[in-house]
Amino acid sequence: MMATPHITAQEGDFAPCVLMPGDPKRAQRMAESILTDPRLVTQVRGMMGFTGTYAGPGEFHGRPLSIMGSGMGMPSIAIYATELYRFYGVSRIIRVGTAGGISPKVKVGDVLIGVGAHTTSSMNELRIPGTHYSAVADLPMAAAAWKAGDDSMTLHCGTIISADHFYFSIPGQLDGLVAHGVLGVEMEAASLYAVAAEHGTGALCVLTVSDHLTSKGADMSADERETKFQGALTLAVAAAFV
Ligand code: HPA
Repeated sequence: MMATPHITAQEGDFAPCVLMPGDPKRAQRMAESILTDPRLVTQVRGMMGFTGTYAGPGEFHGRPLSIMGSGMGMPSIAIYATELYRFYGVSRIIRVGTAGGISPKVKVGDVLIGVGAHTTSSMNELRIPGTHYSAVADLPMAAAAWKAGDDSMTLHCGTIISADHFYFSIPGQLDGLVAHGVLGVEMEAASLYAVAAEHGTGALCVLTVSDHLTSKGADMSADERETKFQGALTLAVAAAFV
């Protein structure tokens, strides 16, 4: 019997590629919509993970694929990513989540490919003594996601920021982020990218913009969110199988 402190799946239960939304219920909906015969392989603390084969059309049809929730925030995704890479033979994790828009070029509903992640967290400061760590995505995976984009979506490729706080920011911080062309804010990428580097593996974040911090406009309705999310999912699948 194999298990880690946070995952009860057995050896071989996970595919080499794992798509990771933050919400385990979304992981379940994704598994039901894009996997053939999804199998629940773990659900410690309700953090469900599923494995099946890709049900979508095209060249990737039938390939093994897993989908598991990450929870919110860098410590949470770091726990699951570490255990997947270290103990379950996972070689790629693609976070499929949402972000708050920061750059005025970015609109609600657009899709962000986070090639690099700034952070307000100290998690990566602790990794290499005396070093401000650069958290970057796997380039071939990012390129595959970029290439999979089509006219149905507006894609942006650039830096994002992984914040520790959802409800707090330092005065002047947002202006500085805008001035440096940061696309959006979320809460996991910088940690996921560092954990991937630590294990010699790949990671990417494909994010749908769900709200905007610097320009006022309508946030997405639940329906819109689900449809837009499907577009991001297509990019994530392309990155998973590149
Ligand atoms: N902040 C942090 N994470 C987010 C946001 C936000 O505004 N929107 C979606 N994820």
